[in-house]
Amino acid sequence: MIENSIIPDAARAGATNSDDVAPIFARDFGDFTWGAATSAYQIEGAHNADGKVDSIWDTFVRRRGKIKSRESGAVACDHYRRFDSDVALMRDLSLQAYRFSIAWTRIFNAPRTRANDKGIDYYQRLIDALLEAGIEPFVTLYHWDLPQYLENTGGWTNRDTISYFCDYATECARRFGDRVRNFIVFNEPMIFLSLGYLLGIHAPGRRGFKNFFAASHNVLLAQAEAAREMRRHLPNAQIGTTISATAAYAASASTRDTAATTRFDTLYNTFYLEPVIGRGYPTQNFPVLKKIEKYIQPGDMEKIKFDFDFWGLNTYTRKIVRYSRYLPYTHWRELKNAPNTRATALNWEIYPEAIYDLLKKYSAYPEIKKIYITENGAAFHDELVAGRVADHNRIDYLKSHLREIARARNEGAKVAGYFVWSLLDNFEWAEGYHARFGLVHNNFLTQARRIKDSGYWYRDFIRGKTHC
Ligand code: FCB
Repeated sequence: MIENSIIPDAARAGATNSDDVAPIFARDFGDFTWGAATSAYQIEGAHNADGKVDSIWDTFVRRRGKIKSRESGAVACDHYRRFDSDVALMRDLSLQAYRFSIAWTRIFNAPRTRANDKGIDYYQRLIDALLEAGIEPFVTLYHWDLPQYLENTGGWTNRDTISYFCDYATECARRFGDRVRNFIVFNEPMIFLSLGYLLGIHAPGRRGFKNFFAASHNVLLAQAEAAREMRRHLPNAQIGTTISATAAYAASASTRDTAATTRFDTLYNTFYLEPVIGRGYPTQNFPVLKKIEKYIQPGDMEKIKFDFDFWGLNTYTRKIVRYSRYLPYTHWRELKNAPNTRATALNWEIYPEAIYDLLKKYSAYPEIKKIYITENGAAFHDELVAGRVADHNRIDYLKSHLREIARARNEGAKVAGYFVWSLLDNFEWAEGYHARFGLVHNNFLTQARRIKDSGYWYRDFIRGKTHC
């Protein structure tokens, strides 16, 4: 267990965010990959084109009251039809890598059928366009869009879903593995399982411990089984997976606040990692998590392990945690942002040191060989004025986080790349379209794209012309 520390902001050594510090250039990161990220449902649109069937997100967005302003990803950025010009934009931004996800429902539109050639063809064309532009594809297999036909038979709570996922992963390996060197099996199990299976605020909208623990265990089994299949087919590929990470700090040094923070850290940061690296589920400090044991069958804890070539970390903010007597099971509450805190449009506190702490924390695991920051970025109320988005707040966010990454890397953190979330403004799940995360602005009525000042800044940074 890696200890959490209480970090009084003012006393924080090494914290950087002023201009009187030494400039850091992209070359100072050494051998490093610079990219941007998206996911299928958030940008593709074309929700029923060319044989694609519904995923749980297509159906979830139709439910009343689930999505702000009743928006959906049915059209989103229409990237499915505009990927060519979007790849041209990526080239303009000098991106070295692009992380995107494959929609399972474009590949298999019914259980145990032949793969859908049109869906496969689409991703092959996208991959070819990227390679032609000199951009390395990082392909996520599962960014939350389970086929609805599998949800109808229990989805991730049903162990049978594991073999369907393996078939899908194998098909992706066979059809894309000649051109793609980097695969990411899952995106953020903790987030889609807690929001989608425990709290019911993301697809598929299920609630309760039974759903949550069964689904969690099955997802981790599916992850390792699929990763093994992929490695068998593609011995030279880099097989990774991505977790969400939220640095947690205790509100005080009291035993109760510290213990609450440890529980928070376990659920948010290690529960979906430690079984995979052979340490078992970290339930010792958090008894309610023991409920997962009910779903473990003989041999599972061997099968759940996989030696990933890299781990992706997605991180945006931090949490300050206090003990709470009133909240059942977790007995913690997250403090609200202090009045003078800098925060994004989603009210996520901006706290760059968190990324340093997380990189140190995960780098301390000997089982983790390599880390990519597979998502980091910020939503702001961007305005397009006379053809320009002057998003200096986003530039500051990126710079301050990159400086912390450089600091961690200089101290030996195993971080090898960085992907901004996101390439484009897109459909931000239950938040709809008002949360704009893009380096590129999108007008969702006309689909006109416009590179924001942050996009130009990132381009110049990658080209070595400016520093963070
Ligand atoms: C992450 C998701 C990504 C995006 C960002 C803001 O949790 O992986 O799809 O929504 O948050």
